[in-house]
Amino acid sequence: MKTKTAFIFDLDGVIVDTAKYHFIAWQRLAKKLDINFTEKENEQLKGVSRVKSLEKILSWGNKTISEELFQQLMDEKNQDYLNLISKMDEKEILPGVKQFLTALQDNNHPIALGSASKNAKTILKAVNLLEVFDAIVDGNHVEKGKPDPEVFLKACAQLNTEPTNAIVFEDSIAGIQAANAGGMLSVGIGQKEVLHEADHCFENLTQFDYDFFQNIISQTKN
Ligand code: BG6
Ligand code: MG
Repeated sequence: MKTKTAFIFDLDGVIVDTAKYHFIAWQRLAKKLDINFTEKENEQLKGVSRVKSLEKILSWGNKTISEELFQQLMDEKNQDYLNLISKMDEKEILPGVKQFLTALQDNNHPIALGSASKNAKTILKAVNLLEVFDAIVDGNHVEKGKPDPEVFLKACAQLNTEPTNAIVFEDSIAGIQAANAGGMLSVGIGQKEVLHEADHCFENLTQFDYDFFQNIISQTKN
């Protein structure tokens, strides 16, 4: 019997729109440091770890700070972010997500989360999706961030599946590159111009249905 294809999802920007909260929190911090920070810079932080994000913001502002202050700013940003997401509920699940996850469950596909966020479980709990995932690999479990494929390879290992038997859904360039590097099929969620390295790209999860992937799976496996 063939193993069922595994589906791996990024969290921020694929399952929920938390990018807006990351943006608010980073922008407040950047303002304090007198560093210009707009949506354009925020785009470059998608899929990027908290540490790397602060490093990038500081480099954009040509700032060098002590390790102690660096840690303090990271904590400050995260506290602000946690306050912003504290009121999240099921209404913040992006359109099409629930229907697609339900179709995957109905068809017995293993489902994993592959996120850079250290707050992933808190968010999944808040939006009541924790139980849907057979494996959760997040920022607490990886040494190398996206575009390194570690997060997705660990998800495959936990699901006991080969990377070539997995499909990854991602809204960041770094995440698409990670999926490609890991040998998985990559599906971009967002703008085609930005995510042109993805094997397939859709604006959001209402733009396709389970049958679309069922066709791809049956073509590649037969
Ligand atoms: C990613 C987001 O999912 O997680 C990034 O796209 C964020 O913007 C990263 O920096 C780390 O998140 P957290 O919650 O650990 O600060
Ligand atoms: Mg994302």
